[in-house]
Amino acid sequence: MPKCYAMTGGKTGTWAVTSMRNVRGDGLTAAERIDISPIDLAPSPAGASWTLRGLISNIRYAERAEIAALKARQEGLGRPNAIRAALIPIRKSPAWWDLAQDERRAIFEETSHHTAIGMAYLPTIARQLYHCRDLGEPFDFLTWFEYAPEHATAFEDLVAKLRDTHEWTYVDREVDIRLARTGVHQE
Ligand code: HEM
Repeated sequence: MPKCYAMTGGKTGTWAVTSMRNVRGDGLTAAERIDISPIDLAPSPAGASWTLRGLISNIRYAERAEIAALKARQEGLGRPNAIRAALIPIRKSPAWWDLAQDERRAIFEETSHHTAIGMAYLPTIARQLYHCRDLGEPFDFLTWFEYAPEHATAFEDLVAKLRDTHEWTYVDREVDIRLARTGVHQE
């Protein structure tokens, strides 16, 4: 079943609008009918091997003190000397997604110390997490990291530590890709 939907207000659609009222903030322009259709996310362009889609979302597990500590230490993507990168798409098992939010947080941090382990590698490793589970993608997360060549060994050390945690027993698909920034290549 598709996971992404568009609700379009206009003149077509199964549902006729019987009333519409602005309750707070900006309203929506009047529409006679509403159409609900699955969205086909952009397919891979011709010649591509694959496309993975993700979006930057809100924080799920980090607590206030952790967010503050991360903000104080982390650096952004695109640093001129960070010419090595890693793309690690990850999927977690149905057993993980069957857990409640508090149970997942306990495994993620209290048991597995994900943030505490990762924090030791800031600011040398810059990171960006993309969520894709809600888009119906084959992976739940696209994780992206950038670092200078001299920190490549430290990065491998970090990945090994995380793969050794209880959290990772819930990872059931993971692909490990390393990259080097060499400029744009177009055929
Ligand atoms: C560079 C140091 C790292 C730090 C400081 C770090 C920190 C974090 C934090 C704080 C979150 C939770 C975000 C939230 O609250 O929603 C998170 C999520 C995540 N991180 Fe890391 N991380 C690091 C490295 C890594 C590495 C190397 C991997 C992969 C091998 C990874 C994979 C993930 C995944 C898959 C999630 C999502 C987990 C979920 O929502 O179930 N992280 N990370």
